[in-house]
Amino acid sequence: MRADKETVVRQAFYLGAALAAMLIPAAAQNKAMTKQAERGKELFLKSPKGTACGTCHTMAGAGTEVGPDLRTLASVVPPRGLVAAIQMTMTERVQEVKTATETFAGLQKSKQGDDVEIWDLSQTPPVLRKLAAKNVVSMNRTEKWKHPPASTEYTSQELADLIGFLKWAAIGQTKEVKVADVE
Ligand code: HEC
Repeated sequence: MRADKETVVRQAFYLGAALAAMLIPAAAQNKAMTKQAERGKELFLKSPKGTACGTCHTMAGAGTEVGPDLRTLASVVPPRGLVAAIQMTMTERVQEVKTATETFAGLQKSKQGDDVEIWDLSQTPPVLRKLAAKNVVSMNRTEKWKHPPASTEYTSQELADLIGFLKWAAIGQTKEVKVADVE
């Protein structure tokens, strides 16, 4: 049941994100950073819990771009929807990559001719692997890889701060994200 609900929520995100991409001008980062956005940025880059978001995402020029760009989603999806995406237990893009000698959770970054670049998510921080396409035996959807924040117990205040930072970085929002907005 929960998985079905997640699918619906995710589809709504993509639709919203696609529409927003057409409507929203370049990210507005000219607004002064709020105290909340500062706290959120600190958590994003060096969370004392779990693996920091910035290990796999970039926002406002900081972090490493392994996972998807969060700007469009952060522009259009309200706080509760963002919490659902952050804590999702079902992912879509990460694949189980098999070669003749090993199997790992990976996210393809690029493919050019016979060369394929895959982020190896079995390691923290993820490692970019370059493989010959012919050495990749298969790549299939996996339910084994879990988005790290799904099992990190952030408090509601921490989630509000993280989202405050995402919204500030994406659209220059300076309005405080309240705890009640994420619960
Ligand atoms: C180990 C790497 C890693 C870490 C750490 C991580 N993410 Fe992700 N994130 C990913 C990957 C990979 C995906 C895409 C998953 C998929 O769809 O298969 C993703 C997807 C997302 C999405 C959904 C994006 C979309 O377009 O569907 C959001 C929102 C998100 N992450 C936010 C966060 C936040 C906020 C944190 C920190 C609290 C975080 N992530 C930590 C790797 C990571």
